[in-house]
Amino acid sequence: MPESVTATAHPNIALVKYWGKRPGPGNIPATPSLSVTLDALTTTTTIRVAAVDRVVLDGVTVADAKIDGFLRGLREQFDIPPLEIDTGSDFPAGCGLASSASGFAALITAIDAALDLGLSAQERSDWARRGSGSAARSIVGGFGALHERDGQWLAEELLPPGAWPLRVVIGITSRTRKSVGSTEGMERSRLTSPFYGSWVRETPADFATARAAVAARDFGALARIAEASCLKMHALMLSSEPGLLYWNGATVEALHRIREIRNGGTAVFFTVDAGPQVKAVCTPDHATAVSAALADVPGVEEVLVSALGPGAVCGTGAGA
Ligand code: DP6
Repeated sequence: MPESVTATAHPNIALVKYWGKRPGPGNIPATPSLSVTLDALTTTTTIRVAAVDRVVLDGVTVADAKIDGFLRGLREQFDIPPLEIDTGSDFPAGCGLASSASGFAALITAIDAALDLGLSAQERSDWARRGSGSAARSIVGGFGALHERDGQWLAEELLPPGAWPLRVVIGITSRTRKSVGSTEGMERSRLTSPFYGSWVRETPADFATARAAVAARDFGALARIAEASCLKMHALMLSSEPGLLYWNGATVEALHRIREIRNGGTAVFFTVDAGPQVKAVCTPDHATAVSAALADVPGVEEVLVSALGPGAVCGTGAGA
């Protein structure tokens, strides 16, 4: 392999949420999900052959059980030497901005290229999903779907980035790492939330509604289903035992503010993941107004604006 291989990927934000897995191996989601890939945030991962496996996150060697498990799974199928994995993102990790999504998408893309595994995008999405469910969707750009076809869970690009050029405005309300990660949180919801069964039964219909809204580029329909899916997921989280409360006061204020400006005629809707950040999806002409409205909410520390971006790509590093 070349001396080093670099890949980049962008996080994605789900509009129909994935929260819950089928019991058993393979990290199989219990429900389909639909997302947008964010151009403005990037994870860059460089790999090189090393004496032993080593994961370097933002320049610091770390122990990462998810990456270890991921490499173990890959080595059951491919001959993979010990690797140094040097990874970093230009946004805060572990606070609801989907760093594991872009992380595993970039990692499998770099490994595939470096070791000439010859994986298709579908196969890379399958491997990325084993690392982290949402990572499958960062293999594709624009609007992505993760759903089951012929018994296989694979990502599909529903629309490329330029086809419906929405903006995502992110209000950062805290940089603290979340206390309960998604994997543990969704298992808690599966085992304890009284609403889990109806969530699993109803989400395929929400997914179909959102998919049709994307195909028709129907902003109002997408807004309704995305807010509904987000709030249903948080109802699951809140009704788990112990309850999972990922929001802070600024999160709630920001949601009210987004609905207020929508009532005033701004084309915008919200979504929130397993963390306190608020993501507002809007048409490009409203991005400045939405940014100003979020920046004005007490407790919002920073506002980022992103267009929709491409899927994970490989670029070779120095010495290649
Ligand atoms: C709230 O993909 O991080 O962002 O598969 O256990 O790694 P694991 O979970 P992860 O969960 C994402 C949860 C979410 C919703 C979503 O992205 O669909």
